[in-house]
Amino acid sequence: MSTPWQQRYAQRMQGVGSSVIRELLKLTEQPDVISFAGGLPAPELFPIEAFRAACDRVLTQYGRRALQYSTTEGFGPLREYIVHKMAQYGIKAAPENVLITSGSQQALDLLGKLLINPGDKILTERPTYLGALQAWRAYQAEFVSVPIDDDGLQTDLMEEALCVGPKFMYILPNFQNPGGVTLSMTRRQALVELADRYGIPIVEDDPYGELRFEGEHLPPLVVQDANRLNGNSSSNGHAQNGSGYFHGNVIYLSTFSKTMAPGLRLGWMVAPAEVIQHCVMAKQGMDLHTSTFVQMVAYEVLKDGFLKQHVRKIRDVYQARRDVMLAALGNYFPPGISWTRPQGGLFLWVKLPESLDSVAILEKAVENKVAFVPGTAFYPDGGGQNTMRLNFSNAQPEQIKTGIRRLGEVLAKEMSVSPKPFDVMEQPEHSLMAI
Ligand SMILES: Cc1ncc(COP(=O)(O)O)c(C=O)c1O
Repeated sequence: MSTPWQQRYAQRMQGVGSSVIRELLKLTEQPDVISFAGGLPAPELFPIEAFRAACDRVLTQYGRRALQYSTTEGFGPLREYIVHKMAQYGIKAAPENVLITSGSQQALDLLGKLLINPGDKILTERPTYLGALQAWRAYQAEFVSVPIDDDGLQTDLMEEALCVGPKFMYILPNFQNPGGVTLSMTRRQALVELADRYGIPIVEDDPYGELRFEGEHLPPLVVQDANRLNGNSSSNGHAQNGSGYFHGNVIYLSTFSKTMAPGLRLGWMVAPAEVIQHCVMAKQGMDLHTSTFVQMVAYEVLKDGFLKQHVRKIRDVYQARRDVMLAALGNYFPPGISWTRPQGGLFLWVKLPESLDSVAILEKAVENKVAFVPGTAFYPDGGGQNTMRLNFSNAQPEQIKTGIRRLGEVLAKEMSVSPKPFDVMEQPEHSLMAI
């Protein structure tokens, strides 16, 4: 039905319409559907007691301040905390390089507001994070994309995309959403060199970096870039010159959504001070500032080193769930299907035979009480019909096994092969299936 509002929406919202996938995903909220669709952390790990105690302390000791308006840049001690946190990664920033945001989603939107003119091209990975595409489509961005493989963005295929003159590149180096893959060290180096050669800045989005289950931590791009600037590939990557000014080609984003709780809506941006000042102006028009109360409570929880222990707990649980999912995929999925083996994060990525369409399969999967996100949603310029994203952080191990079995049945039917017999299905080929 037409409404009086329809002719009034701004042109910039034309590319941000609803989609078949979004409509289908609404069905996944039915309680009997096992959903691998959302990017939801495990809620049983939320540190509720720590937050309860911190709320009490904040209200008792600083109640008036906590419930008052505050500065757009963010709560001073929390910004200092981020400075110290970043220093552990080798990023030497000052508080003026840090902006506290209402989730890193807001940081993406702020950067869109600040940087994107209609028709500007943004270079992304293919596939990439849907939330960034949504945020930037509203600023009428266009996308040029470069494929990923098991080592992340294929830097050797970037020249053509770089030649179209993108405004910036958007890169998810760790346990990429949706692909689950991690950018290799060699490619990190190649990427910052290419960014420098073509004069194209990088927005590095790193919500999952701390959730590494195995393998070696790899330095963020912002550190690689600082090494390049310092002409020292072995330095510890201080993105700082003699006057203490954070500079360089990379804006770094992260969040407490996956390490504490997404309902806090608490993220941060690390950038040159002049970029932060511009983002502060842009943020004032959005929400004046991120909740004073939430920032103060989060700081109260974080200040004595809470996160180190807590993140260890999250990693252990997610690693076990990943292993259950990998084993179940091996047991229940028909031959001819491949998937990534993420070293951390929340997602893995499945590739079906070319002839299959995962949007059509989702409909059947929901009938069989299981859900996922069809991969095509993450492709900025079309493609990926035969792919799907599976989340392993939110469901319990038993649900993961049951859900993957249900999905395997649907896929076997689509591929006209018989599902694997039950006795094979119920025999875990991996010891962690017992978890
Ligand atoms: C790659 C990426 N960036 C940003 C976000 C947004 O996170 P936040 O909850 O901090 O807004 C997400 C959330 O899933 C994400 O996967």
